[in-house]
Amino acid sequence: MKYLFCNWKMYLDYDQSMALVDQVAKAGVPADKLQVGIFPNFVALHDVCETLKGSNILVGAQDVSEMSQGAYTGDTAATVVKSIGCRYALVGHSERRHVFGEKDVDIRKKMEACLSAGLVPILCVGETVEDKENDKRQYRLKKQLFSALEGLVLNGGSIIIAYEPVWAIGTHIPCDPAEADDVQGWIKQEVKQLLGKDIPVLYGGSVDAENVVSYVSRETVDGVLVGTASTNEKTLLPLIGAAARV
Ligand code: PGA
Repeated sequence: MKYLFCNWKMYLDYDQSMALVDQVAKAGVPADKLQVGIFPNFVALHDVCETLKGSNILVGAQDVSEMSQGAYTGDTAATVVKSIGCRYALVGHSERRHVFGEKDVDIRKKMEACLSAGLVPILCVGETVEDKENDKRQYRLKKQLFSALEGLVLNGGSIIIAYEPVWAIGTHIPCDPAEADDVQGWIKQEVKQLLGKDIPVLYGGSVDAENVVSYVSRETVDGVLVGTASTNEKTLLPLIGAAARV
């Protein structure tokens, strides 16, 4: 089974989020084919969970606090996200790292917070265009993976990795599927060394209905994390349809 995770970022307001989730729920997702996950904004999170309760579509938060409870204005604890029915949380998304300045050390704490709350963290990693041009892709990914995963105690929980090259996010310049295949094969080996087990690795960055099959048909690509193309019924429903046919 492949994953299709939809990161709605800050594109949709509450009404738009609820309208889109209704359409996805109505259209349905073929059971056993595809695990669809919706990551709406925090304002819509609870009601999206309620709408999808009992369906085979799961829900996640776009971020969580590294803290568990207390005087942390504006943050939301992983335990609170879990308590409303979420299964997942994105951790270390490129925009959190590069726009909001999250550091590897913060991301590690968020991984731990998710696992102790019973959420499945989706650890996002990826190199910048400068890294790529300076032959530092593996260096960057290694650093991100090591600091998030070395010695991490899963305690019966699970995690997912999303390989999202920063230069491919929101640019309409996706990573060539063969190149993503190579990088993801390498990531899988690195992660196995760090955690001693096989972990699913998704690809993200300018995925749409036209190119999704070229990713999810590969063995090293366990699914996709989609931003822009998941925020609109006209692009999301064909995306789900195409991915489910693989
Ligand atoms: P994109 O975003 O599909 O718009 O490139 C992907 C992501 O940021 O997860």
